[in-house]
Amino acid sequence: MASARGKVILVGEHAVVYGRPAIAAGIERGAWASARWAPESELRVTGPEGTNGHLGHTNAPQPVEQAFTALQNELQVTGVAVEARLQLPAGCGLGASAALAVAIARAILELSGDRPELDRVLGAAHAWEQVFHGNPSGIDAAVAALGGCLRFVRGHPPQPVRVAQDLVLAVAVAGPPASTRAMVAAVARQREAHPEQVDALLDEIGCLAEEAQACLGQGALDRLGNILDSNQALLERLGVSTPAIARACAEARKAGALGAKLTGSGGGGAVIALVRDEGESVLEAWRSQGLECFAARVSTRNRSPL
Ligand code: PMV
Repeated sequence: MASARGKVILVGEHAVVYGRPAIAAGIERGAWASARWAPESELRVTGPEGTNGHLGHTNAPQPVEQAFTALQNELQVTGVAVEARLQLPAGCGLGASAALAVAIARAILELSGDRPELDRVLGAAHAWEQVFHGNPSGIDAAVAALGGCLRFVRGHPPQPVRVAQDLVLAVAVAGPPASTRAMVAAVARQREAHPEQVDALLDEIGCLAEEAQACLGQGALDRLGNILDSNQALLERLGVSTPAIARACAEARKAGALGAKLTGSGGGGAVIALVRDEGESVLEAWRSQGLECFAARVSTRNRSPL
């Protein structure tokens, strides 16, 4: 059974599409896949929402079949039946799509008797992600494949980040999923309309990612919490937050979180909060608001495979 991790972006989503650095980490939840030869290619995905073909997006069925075809074309393999299982809320910015792609690519390569080389797995995942995301930076697939905590700059090999002290994050699904493709396109439109202002915001986000990397190496959690808050403020100015996300962040801070922000493309989906203990007070506060939530640990031990 091949596997891959889900992820959180600690700092830097959207800015990473435009070449700024971002810091992301694998989490304990992810995707599994197994493959067998079959007369016709077929993909079945089961997940928390029992979705097959929708990847959790509520209003627009996602072209999973098209993505599966693109992935097989990239691997130059056809005639495979793949069963995949997702252990993440899909379409919420937790890297479900990339985790599926990486697990499926690994399962197919194993079946073919090929070594699941990182470059081939990431190439296949990129072909899949392009169908969903249009212009993926590659950060999700890199973390899905490698796990751990990574610094990612588009077009460069991901670098492991030293984490002096494990982090505990409370993770909530703060709103219905939004399409990453639509959110990335919305930022691109904004950038076209106001290039200087948007590039300045992206630069600031890139600087926060650099600072976050230093904080992780020093175990400076209070400062890291402030960085998450600053990143959230910049994402709000970029127009990718929502009132529900802002409320979930405020609720987490009130319940003692060191900092909170959206993670992933925004427009809905997941929020992360950095917590000191096991995050129970934040999780309780979110549960009392009816939010689906869980705790995730960011650790250098979170290296793939799951
Ligand atoms: O797929 P999501 O929702 O986790 O978002 C990925 C992060 C973005 O920076 C918004 C897009 C990208 O390709 O890096």
